[in-house]
Amino acid sequence: MRKVGEEGTGQAMSMVFLALCLSSASTFASADQNRRRPQPSPPHEAAKDRFPSSVSIGRTSSAVFPLYGNVYPNGLYFASLRIGDPPRPYFLDVDTGSDLTWVQCDAPCVSCSKGPHPLYKPEKDKLVPCVHPICDSLQAVASTPSHTGEAQRPHCDSPNDQCDYEVEYADQGSSRGVLISDTFSMHFVNGSLLRPRLAFGCGYDQQLYGNDAPSPTDGVLGLGLGKSSIMSQLREHGLTRNVMGHCLGRRGGGFLFFGDDLVPTSGVSWTPMSGRGLRKYYSPGPANLFLGRQLLGKNFEVIFDSGSSYTYFSSRPYEIFLTLMMRDLSGKQLKVASDDRTLPLCWRGAKPFKSIGEARKYFKPLTMAFSQGKRALLAIPPENYLILTKHGSLCLGVLNGTEVGLKDLNIIGDISVQDVMVVYDNEKEQIGWARANCERFPRSAGSSALPSPPPGFPVPEHLPSLRPSFHAASGSEEMVARGVSAGHPHHHHHPGGL
Ligand SMILES: *[C@@H]1O[C@H](CO)[C@@H](O)[C@H](O)[C@H]1NC(C)=O
Ligand SMILES: *[C@@H]1O[C@H](CO)[C@@H](O)[C@H](O)[C@H]1NC(C)=O
Repeated sequence: MRKVGEEGTGQAMSMVFLALCLSSASTFASADQNRRRPQPSPPHEAAKDRFPSSVSIGRTSSAVFPLYGNVYPNGLYFASLRIGDPPRPYFLDVDTGSDLTWVQCDAPCVSCSKGPHPLYKPEKDKLVPCVHPICDSLQAVASTPSHTGEAQRPHCDSPNDQCDYEVEYADQGSSRGVLISDTFSMHFVNGSLLRPRLAFGCGYDQQLYGNDAPSPTDGVLGLGLGKSSIMSQLREHGLTRNVMGHCLGRRGGGFLFFGDDLVPTSGVSWTPMSGRGLRKYYSPGPANLFLGRQLLGKNFEVIFDSGSSYTYFSSRPYEIFLTLMMRDLSGKQLKVASDDRTLPLCWRGAKPFKSIGEARKYFKPLTMAFSQGKRALLAIPPENYLILTKHGSLCLGVLNGTEVGLKDLNIIGDISVQDVMVVYDNEKEQIGWARANCERFPRSAGSSALPSPPPGFPVPEHLPSLRPSFHAASGSEEMVARGVSAGHPHHHHHPGGL
């Protein structure tokens, strides 16, 4: 799923966190009878009835979190969330392409990578029982017809069984574990510090980063459409509206919010969330895709996946895109370079480029025109599809989705929404975006909402608001692709191999 760069060789990291399928204990137990599964012992009654069912919602506030990381070289954006009592920080990869949040967990752990923080230690009374609706929703996803052929709905042998889960991502990473609940400490913009108890996965068996590679995060923050997502749970608790947004800074950092206080009242392009079979993902419906003024493809189905570092087009439009782009570049001063083994197509100029802006004359903007929204255009300037390497070359950050098994799905990854605020409004079932300066932490969030930056992480040298123009990190290079969910083909992009 994620390939960790080799120090100093200019390798980038890439992930596709798009959950392919969430399956239950019974699903994987049958596939994997012999596998050792640590069991943090049977659940107690206590875990039951902790979650209110639907609560009608009046005036609510929002919670805002700074983000850390970048598209390149880190290949991911993450938030620091505080879980447990006393609260301890965990870095979680922000993923709108999957529902379940999980942290690496000492249950004990069968396969965990070395993360930035010690493993979460589950307590027996925090197990979520199998009958809980959230467990049910995880297991329901496993039975999508496309995945099993026939709805073979997993079941609880006994209502008080622990709720086992497994999530697989498009790049073939996976996490398996057991569902637990614990308190998340969150500052709200109205000044309250609340500690809602939320369900998440205690992941004791991860196949993510390759052997022994350390992981830059402790887990994944699942923000998809499903009931298990943190958003849905906050809504169930009556704490925020089921609205969320992210703003990923081009120079790294940015912010994430839950609730609707930060949604701009104007200047947002809205389009209805698409139903058609993509309901598991945030899709703004079909689009026509243009390079400059030339049409590359019609009825292009796209999804927004913050768990994917790069953007993916399916084979046919990808081919047309490459052909037209190469034609534009022919006779120009650009030469094909092989800078970064993780990004297949790179160019260098007569002199090393200092910014992507210098190459603007060679590359045209990509535009997606969504037919379901009123003049809903998503403009993707070259800065949002090219990467500047530390050697001053440019690499294409749009990859062949068919090659990694995404079939007809096209993913708008982090690279293409840099300095764009993307809003997922699950109340009104619409997705919106607006250009933004994502390095500016929203003032309305108040300084009390700002936790201190995570120490020791290579990227977040700055808090978004405090230093307006910080120069982009130039280090190794990474690609990330994470994120498509259930019933979809595996998706992995590791040109270097996994
Ligand atoms: C602040 O917002 C939270 C979350 O919506 C709410 O529960 C709390 O009552 C609010 N506090 C005040 C003082 O309004
Ligand atoms: C994309 O990947 C598919 C499957 O591997 C391959 O057949 C196709 O030629 C690739 N297209 C391009 C333009 O590289």
